[in-house]
Amino acid sequence: MAAKPPRVKYACDECGYESPRWLGRCPSCGSWNSMREVQAAPVSPRGGLAPGRRSAAGQPAPEPVRLSQVDPTDDARFPTGVGEFDRVLGGGLVPGSVVLVGGDPGVGKSTLLLQAGDHFARAHGDVLYVSAEESLRQVALRARRLGLDDTPLRLIAETDVDAAVDAALHVRPKLMIVDSIQAVSTADADSVPGSLVQVRECAARLIRLAKLEGIAVLMVGHVTKQGSLAGPKVLEHAVDAVLYLEGERDTQFRVMRAVKNRFGSTDEIGIFEMGDAGLRDVANPSALFLQERAAGEPGTVVVAGVEGSRSLLVEVQALVGPAPFGGTPRRQVSGVDYQRAAIVLAVLERRCGMPLHTHDVYINAVGGVRLDEPAADLAVALAVASAFRDRPVDAGTVVFGEVGLTGEVRGVRQAERRAREAAKLGFRRCILPRSNVPPGAAAADIQFFGVSTVVDALRAVEAGSA
Ligand code: TYD
Ligand code: MG
Repeated sequence: MAAKPPRVKYACDECGYESPRWLGRCPSCGSWNSMREVQAAPVSPRGGLAPGRRSAAGQPAPEPVRLSQVDPTDDARFPTGVGEFDRVLGGGLVPGSVVLVGGDPGVGKSTLLLQAGDHFARAHGDVLYVSAEESLRQVALRARRLGLDDTPLRLIAETDVDAAVDAALHVRPKLMIVDSIQAVSTADADSVPGSLVQVRECAARLIRLAKLEGIAVLMVGHVTKQGSLAGPKVLEHAVDAVLYLEGERDTQFRVMRAVKNRFGSTDEIGIFEMGDAGLRDVANPSALFLQERAAGEPGTVVVAGVEGSRSLLVEVQALVGPAPFGGTPRRQVSGVDYQRAAIVLAVLERRCGMPLHTHDVYINAVGGVRLDEPAADLAVALAVASAFRDRPVDAGTVVFGEVGLTGEVRGVRQAERRAREAAKLGFRRCILPRSNVPPGAAAADIQFFGVSTVVDALRAVEAGSA
C-alpha cells in the first residue's frame, strides 16, 4: 500500500505568503522565485488537529475494515448516575460524544448537569464544569442547595471557549460540561456571544476537542419561545445527541426526551420531579400522575400509554360546554396530538351523534407528558363523551386504542404491557381494541372489554358505570 504523501505547502521567503501550490511569482509581494517548500505544521484543537494525533504527515492511509470485524457492543458507556438521564442517553455517556441539553431558561438544566457531573466525578474520574453564565459563587450556592458542597467536580467560570478548551487540555477530564453554549464565545469570530456565528464556531471547537481527546462533552443550550434563531437548533446536525428538558414552570414534573441520539433510542423519556434538593428520578410516574386525580367526576379517563420501554398511565381530561351563539367554538388541546384530537371530535360528531360543533372543547393530558401515540385516541373520545354527557366513567377503568375515521377502534402495539401496568396500579376494567384482547383474558386480575367501534366503547363505559 502506497504511503500518503506528506502534506506540504509553500511560503514566500520575502513576505511569508503561503500557498498550497508552488508559484513562480508571489502574488502578495510580487518577488520572483521566492516560494519555498515547508511542512504543514500540525495545529492544535483550538484551530485544527491536536499535536501528534492525526497530523497527516508520514501517516499511512487509513485501512478500511469489514462491518463483520466491528464489534457493535464495543462502546464503553459511563452512566451519569442520574437514572432517568441515563435512560434517555441510552445507558450513559460515550467517551468522545457530544450531547446538547436544551430547554427553556429556568427549567432545571444547570441543576441536572451539576447533579449528573457530581455523580460522574465520583464514579468515573475528573469532570470539568465550565460555568459561563454564573459566577463560581452562584454555582457554589446551587451546589450547597443540592447537598454537594464536597463535590469532586472541577469548576471554572469562563466565557472564552478557547480558554475553556485549554483548561480541558490541561485537566484532561473524562467529562466536560459547558453551561451554556450561548454564553461562550471565541475572539476569532467577529460576532457577539450567542449569535449564530459564535454558537456554531464554539460548538465546532468543543466537538473537535471531544473527538480528538475522547472527552465526553455536555453542552447546555437555551431555547427561546420566540423561535430559537441562534439557539441549539443550528447545532442539531453537528452533535451526537440532542435532549430536551421540558416542563411547566408551575408543576414539579420535568420530562426529558431525545430528538436525536446516535447512541440510543429516541423513544425513551426521562421523568423528574423538581424538589428542594434538585431533580429526583421518578421511576414510577403512573402513580404520581394519578395521585391528584378527580376520580368519579365527568370528563376524566385514564389511558394506558407506552413511551419507549416504559408504560405510563396518564389521566386525560375534557371539558365541554356550549359555545357562544354564532361564534366559532373553541378547541384547546394540550398534552395530546391536536390533529388526532380533531379527528376524534369529528368521529364523535358523525358516528355518535354528539353536536360538538356547537360546543367549546378543552382537552388536557395531566402531568406535563405528551401523548403523541394513536393509542390515546380512545381515551380522548371517552373523556369528551363523558364531559359532554356529564356522566363519569368508572374510576377503575383504563382504556387504550386508536380511533379510525369510520369510528372503528384499531389495535395498538404492546397491549399486554399496558394492561399489566394498569392492573399493577389497581385498575380492574380495561376497554381496549377487540384485536388486542389477550387469549388468556379470563385468568387475569383485570377484566377485558374488547371493542370494535367507538359506539361499542361508549356502551362498555355505560355498562361499567351502571
Ligand atoms: P436551573 O437549573 O438554574 O435552570 P436552567 O439552568 O435550566 O436555567 O434551575 C432553575 C429553577 O429550578 C429555579 O427556578 C430554582 C429551581 N430549583 C429548585 O426548585 N430546586 C433546586 O434544588 C434547585 C437547585 C433549583
Ligand atoms: Mg442555567
